[in-house]
Amino acid sequence: MPSLAPFLLACRCEPTPYTPVWLMRQAGRYLSEYRAVRERFSFLELCKTPSAAAEVTLQPVDILGVDAAILFADILLVLEPLGLGLSFTKGDGPHIAHPVRTAEQAERLPRVDVEDALSFVLETIRLVKPQLPKRVPLIGFAGAPFTLASYAIEGGGSRNCVHTKRLLYGHPQAFHALMSRLVEVTADYLNAQSRAGVDAVQVFDSWVGNLAPDDYRASVLPHMRELFNRLDPSVPAIHFSTGTSGFIELIAAAGGDVVGLDWRITLDEGWQRIGHHRAVQGNLDPGVLLGPRQVIRERVRELLERAGGRPGHVFNLGHGVLPETPRDNVRALVDAVHELSTRGTSG
Ligand code: CP3
Repeated sequence: MPSLAPFLLACRCEPTPYTPVWLMRQAGRYLSEYRAVRERFSFLELCKTPSAAAEVTLQPVDILGVDAAILFADILLVLEPLGLGLSFTKGDGPHIAHPVRTAEQAERLPRVDVEDALSFVLETIRLVKPQLPKRVPLIGFAGAPFTLASYAIEGGGSRNCVHTKRLLYGHPQAFHALMSRLVEVTADYLNAQSRAGVDAVQVFDSWVGNLAPDDYRASVLPHMRELFNRLDPSVPAIHFSTGTSGFIELIAAAGGDVVGLDWRITLDEGWQRIGHHRAVQGNLDPGVLLGPRQVIRERVRELLERAGGRPGHVFNLGHGVLPETPRDNVRALVDAVHELSTRGTSG
């Protein structure tokens, strides 16, 4: 039987010949090849054109030599079939035309047939899969209910989640109605991605670090448990969040085979608090990639030392690659991880 790809072994906390590495936002604006494709399409058109989305999904695999590909799409695509109206404006980011602010609005959200409404994402997966080498699995993804709810409630990005907190504290039944609908559609969507061929899935809870630990425990954790319980158990799930070092144990308790760590906590402390039986992903500050090559290599070495050669480390940044990042630095990072982690050499 052919052995599993290093990335999938690490997701299962099994030993690997070297530490697998991939990067959030590895397909994106820092790559001239991405910008060239992007000139021909708006961002949403690009997501909805499977041949082009497949092309940009594959770009970093060849250019960087990463150990996993991530599907090119966006966490907010699912808000469109929910009838919320989604657009991306240059400079301002996403805009939701019809935000959800009441229990009636949350309960009136339509049921979504994801196979139909998001068929373009599933088609991208079917195009990408046969073009990937066996050692490079494909990661599908979705937004976590809280992060999706924040966008749906705020109508776009927001620093303080003002409307979200108004709903959470003032109208908890509306908040929970919305969260429940998002759990349903997100589970369906991720399972559809698994059927289409992804080898792992990542759930992005980018905004949940805005909550206090007790509110996370009471108002979000039960929904996350429900979501992870509904996922196909044969496909490893990565639970990513940012700003959650204060309650990383609760993130781990909510579910996921692999727990993502951002750089506001050291990898060894985070891993110890989660428990070494769980795999971890992370956690270099993306800003390190703006520094000189020898600093990048040094930080990679330090991070690998913190991982201590334990099975179950997927190397990644603590958040996405910044658009200002020089591509040669990203390549240098991937090479450094492979070189310095190859078992049996001193590095
Ligand atoms: O390479 C990859 O990581 C895969 C593709 C991917 C994108 N977005 C492409 C994208 C993934 C996994 C995402 C997830 C996503 N999208 C998140 C969670 C991760 C995170 O960053 O916290 C969030 C919050 C979004 C929502 C979103 N999409 C925002 C806020 C923006 C605008 C801000 C920005 O970075 O421009 C986007 C647009 C977006 N999604 C771009 C890309 C490559 C830039 C679009 C462009 O080409 O102009």
